[in-house]
Amino acid sequence: MSSILQCIECAKQYPINRVIYSCEACGGLLDVKHDFGSEASRFAREVFDERLGSLAAPYNSGVWRFKELVYPGIDKAAIVSRMEGNTNLYDVPRVATFAGVESMYLKHEGENPTGSFKDRGMTTGVTQAKLLGMERVACASTGNTSASMASYAAYAGMQGIVFLQNQQIAMGKLAQGIAYGATCVQINADFDRNMELVREVSDRLGIYVLNSINPFRLEGQKSIMFEALQQLRWQAPDWIVVPGGNLGNSSAFGKGLLEMYEVGLIDRMPRLAIIQAEGANPLYRHFRAGFKSFEPVNAQTIATAIKIGNPVNLQKAIRTLEWTSGVVEQVSDEQIMDAKAVIDGAGIGCEPASACSVAGAKKLVQNGTIKRGDSVLAVLTGNVLKDPEATIGYHANQLAGITPGYRNRILQADDNIAEIIRLLE
Ligand code: F0G
Repeated sequence: MSSILQCIECAKQYPINRVIYSCEACGGLLDVKHDFGSEASRFAREVFDERLGSLAAPYNSGVWRFKELVYPGIDKAAIVSRMEGNTNLYDVPRVATFAGVESMYLKHEGENPTGSFKDRGMTTGVTQAKLLGMERVACASTGNTSASMASYAAYAGMQGIVFLQNQQIAMGKLAQGIAYGATCVQINADFDRNMELVREVSDRLGIYVLNSINPFRLEGQKSIMFEALQQLRWQAPDWIVVPGGNLGNSSAFGKGLLEMYEVGLIDRMPRLAIIQAEGANPLYRHFRAGFKSFEPVNAQTIATAIKIGNPVNLQKAIRTLEWTSGVVEQVSDEQIMDAKAVIDGAGIGCEPASACSVAGAKKLVQNGTIKRGDSVLAVLTGNVLKDPEATIGYHANQLAGITPGYRNRILQADDNIAEIIRLLE
């Protein structure tokens, strides 16, 4: 049950107790590779099904329920967990109708402890930081990673340090970083530059980086697929649709799905659709150009979570697209906000970036890639409370360049019963 780090390009290996994020020989990204052994019974569906509803750590976490696939060799006592995961899978006819399919499942990762999927990667990342004896952890973030890291670092007794852009960070996320006691540094640089800065600074100061360049993050995020497939009684859907920013999730999903297939938990690989915002679409462009030469972009979108022009996990995402016969689509800010309004209005709710998956599914149905009768699972990555300004701006019709298609106007009335009744009639 040993695990090692391995370069995805040149296969050079490193022990897992090395603090290293890319290959020293060729600069390639690193995978955590587990020796799953030959004992197939350890991965029987029943093993994971029996743990559902467990009240005891670590199996009460929707990440560590799948410990054998996430970090097999780790001592249970070493795990830093906030019982993350265990998020709901919703079958919402109204959203399916909007997207143009017969049924659509929404896997709501905004129901995690800090309101985004990042908690699944942070439980594994901070656990690894603790194993390595780290006292300080850092990340660059568009907001959710920082919120999650701040929480898990505080919980584990470490200092969290976050590098944030000094503009366009959603209020809910900034508030969380401050509230959880992280050292918050607002920098006059975009996310892509902050990513470079945090790696350089952390290297010099001996701080552990917890962005998704850290392969232990992705080991936790794989569990979104494990849990969703378990909720679907291990029957793979035709499509899984996910927003793409730094491409950590897309990368983790590919690895997780392949591992599930290899150990026999699922019988076929679903297809993955990665959705980017039109103004932050480097993977989409690269995909359309046949992966010839990659060009970063200057990112701009209302979905600030994915305002990323130079994704660090690019090569892992490309690998995922190959493994899953995947596709990449782009959607406009208006399409994102309209899809969000439909998801919100169905009572589910999510932040703007999350709505990419539903907006993207709709577009892929319209262009014939996804068929009306296909089974589709869309991942909602963040909670509706994360970005109240975008939500209110949309419904107040105050977002530049966006004409809201699903407005819910706030009504105004004086302290006058007759007037209020007239309004409600
Ligand atoms: N959705 C939300 C709500 C996010 O916060 C992010 C990424 C993504 C989607 C994109 O996921 O990077 O795995 O492709 N947020 C990061 C952050 C970058 O700093 O919080 P990805």
